Amino acid sequence: MEKRMQEHGNDHWQSRKNTAFARAQGNLAPVFIERAINAEMWDENGQRYIDFATGIAVCSTGHTNPKVVAAVQEQLQRFSHTALGLTPYRSAVELAEKLNELAPGSSPKKTMFVTTGAEAVENCVKIARSHTCRRGIIAFNGAFHGRTMMAMGLTGKVTPYKSRFGPMPGEIYHVPYPVDYHGVTLQQSLDALDNLFHVDIAPSDVAAIIVEPVQGEGGFYPASNEFLLALRKLCDEHGIVLIADEIQSGFARTGKFFCFEHAGVEPDLMTVAKGVAGGFPLAAVVGKAEVMDAPAPGGLGGTYAGSPIACVAALAVIDVIEQENLLDRATQLGELFGHRLVELQRKYPDVIGDVRANRGAMVAVELVKNRDVNQPDADLTQALVTNACQSGLILLSCGVRANVIRFLPALTITDELVHDGIDIFATCLDKLLAK
Ligand SMILES: Cc1ncc(COP(=O)(O)O)c(C=O)c1O
Repeated sequence: MEKRMQEHGNDHWQSRKNTAFARAQGNLAPVFIERAINAEMWDENGQRYIDFATGIAVCSTGHTNPKVVAAVQEQLQRFSHTALGLTPYRSAVELAEKLNELAPGSSPKKTMFVTTGAEAVENCVKIARSHTCRRGIIAFNGAFHGRTMMAMGLTGKVTPYKSRFGPMPGEIYHVPYPVDYHGVTLQQSLDALDNLFHVDIAPSDVAAIIVEPVQGEGGFYPASNEFLLALRKLCDEHGIVLIADEIQSGFARTGKFFCFEHAGVEPDLMTVAKGVAGGFPLAAVVGKAEVMDAPAPGGLGGTYAGSPIACVAALAVIDVIEQENLLDRATQLGELFGHRLVELQRKYPDVIGDVRANRGAMVAVELVKNRDVNQPDADLTQALVTNACQSGLILLSCGVRANVIRFLPALTITDELVHDGIDIFATCLDKLLAK
């Protein structure tokens, strides 16, 4: 082990990665994972980590979930790729049927598969434009929709996602996302939309509004039910397609299969990715059948779209969610995290400005100075992520002002590991604040 640590440990691989990779494709920490089981991972130095990141909300049914592994192994014996657009296979059909059934709302649904979240967003835009024959797409400040051209344009955060990557695609409009903690009210957001319709684009020229029901990279701000209902009403009034970006919030993460269900709102189109296939690259657009069928045959797809490996993995993930009752578990986890983090907030009220734990296992704390929402503490946030990692806990930050720690545990994590992880987080906070 000692020899491996010196010759092929994390530092060795980080140094080789730094030489081999473009610097823009960075990594959180010099931790190279050698194996992972459920909510634990081990690196090339043999150090063990509790994983509160799940590869950015992907491995929700745990790393190397036995049912997912078995489904993939079985599929690998048969074939790994034939191209959905050439000679398809039953797992893709079964999965599309299942997604159509699980999607919020009672309208008949259809699905199309791609490989990444950003591609799902791109395809929503294509479908919405094809359906409406309109040009404009409205997104929100602080949104994150991906790194491809259109998805990047829709993203509402400049650094690091947009700077020096312009010109941006046209016909994208941003308005404020209501965040009570930051004093942005629902009415202000609705007024900004109304203003946009008078200043920049008529609603009859708007193809779609895209919204995350919990802003992910933007800082884990949940949309209120009233906000989503108001968007639904506005879209109905003007024939605008409402797109739910459920890439981070979907697939059981918030205690429902899809977060829009909390508000009882049916979107016209919805993106699915990340948690859908337990770590295998799969994304989808699921939407109302008449909207989904707007583009002509051949207009949508991709070589790896709906990989058979990913489709069987996704079917296994759905089985695990249903059989192990992971929707309820997500809600319980939110309560458990919330309870522990509110205790910490009582201890450090000047620093933990806000605890957001009312959307299942999509939990966050916002770190500020002097109890002041307008003094974000990005340095403390970064130091916490680094310290936690050195102490065996993988944490992720987020937020437009880089001052939010998000907690995205596997929904199969034990209570014991949750407590152990939060103990590490609390110890790191104690240590950093004692300085
Ligand atoms: C809400 C949301 N939309 C889109 C994306 C982009 O997905 P991908 O990284 O798979 O392209 C992400 C990724 O974090 C996301 O959280």
